[in-house]
Amino acid sequence: MDLFTYKNDELYCEDVPARQIAEQFGTPVYVYSKQTVIEHYRQIATAFAPVNPTICYSIKSCGNIHICKVLAAEGCGFDVTSGGELYRALQAGGDAKKIIYAGVGKTDEEIRYALEVGIAAFNIESEEEAENIDRIAGMMGKKAVGALRVNPDVDPKTHKHTSTGKKETKFGVDIERAEAFFAKYKSLQNLRIGGVHIHIGSPVYEIDPYVQAVKKVTALIDRLMLEGHHIEWLDIGGGFAVNYMHKEQAKPITEHAKALLPLLAGKPYRIAIEPGRYIIGNAGVLLTRVLYRKIGGNKRFVIVDAGMNDLIRPALYDSYHYIWPVRPDAANVPTERNREHLPRSGEIVDVVGPICESSDYLAKDRPLPVVKRDDLLCVFTAGAYGFAMSSNYNNRRRAAEVMVDGGKAQLIRRRETWEDLVAAERV
Ligand code: LLP
Repeated sequence: MDLFTYKNDELYCEDVPARQIAEQFGTPVYVYSKQTVIEHYRQIATAFAPVNPTICYSIKSCGNIHICKVLAAEGCGFDVTSGGELYRALQAGGDAKKIIYAGVGKTDEEIRYALEVGIAAFNIESEEEAENIDRIAGMMGKKAVGALRVNPDVDPKTHKHTSTGKKETKFGVDIERAEAFFAKYKSLQNLRIGGVHIHIGSPVYEIDPYVQAVKKVTALIDRLMLEGHHIEWLDIGGGFAVNYMHKEQAKPITEHAKALLPLLAGKPYRIAIEPGRYIIGNAGVLLTRVLYRKIGGNKRFVIVDAGMNDLIRPALYDSYHYIWPVRPDAANVPTERNREHLPRSGEIVDVVGPICESSDYLAKDRPLPVVKRDDLLCVFTAGAYGFAMSSNYNNRRRAAEVMVDGGKAQLIRRRETWEDLVAAERV
């Protein structure tokens, strides 16, 4: 579900025409639908309600404070992966008691900060990290809490850059070593390891990898409990996929819940989930304007004002993002049920950005209605890992972000200025 729909032959975000947002705030611009964010969060909460999960929004997917505030107001916690993300979650009013901190390379400074503000738990990724957290907590006179991130050795069947659940990735501790880990660190003075964490990859389109991973890890917890360890929670991570194409690629969260609830219900420990993409992926789009058209060899290029610095997913992961004109000609207006990939009349083009790299593209060999200079294009499903992964490469200013709530469009991050680009430099 999302609230980006074509009405009166043009694209709207909730009740605001996308064209109006582009005119008011310029392009490229990220546009988010507040109601979609809330709806997706509630879908997860409802689907997993029988196990009353702690939901921690994976802030790395899209960290704008305004969006985090909307989720915090719903009672959502946060999954952070750096000191900066922790700072951001707290700035958004996030409750430290609902913040969990993952990542293979937490620095001493970051660990100290997390202990100072009193986060719920560290997701611990190695033996050396456990010893370091225990040492730092001891120096600070604090008691740290952690979960062991276990690598369940399950293939999430996703892009190699975003696959984390297989043994050969850097994440977690091999499941075979988990029992020895718990035994070794049972009596640490300042760190209590009371949970188990998994995150197998992102995006995960199939349900079976989750089922396999949860089966392995619940069996592990059964063994740990028999060995006398007190396990208080299981965090099953995030990664639930969304539809990038407008055909059913991804399973609704209800399907995941249907398969996982029987494995999780009635357990003597709490359940946590860390979704990012499922909440924000389809709740955000990128609007971009056509600058030029050109022909190269036998290819046609549409050059737009958004580049790989604004949305790196196509270049980095060969990701597909549905792209369509904001105001298509009448024959090419998609209906809600029938957003077509093939224009009734159109051409095959590469949609490329202004950056000096051949990998700077948003779409390759894409059938699109014929567009011309100044036309607006919408890049759909750009909410997750869109702005969050944007950069200043080629000294481009990062885009503005706008949040729509009903008939109101609000600027939630201004476009950077050229002064911003040099502000941190010392001459
Ligand atoms: N938990 C942990 C420990 C993670 O590493 C991640 C994502 C998540 C939760 C949230 O996953 P989600 O529900 O958002 O799929 N940049 C890539 C995705 C990288 C994901 C990194 N970790 C992309 O654009 O597809």
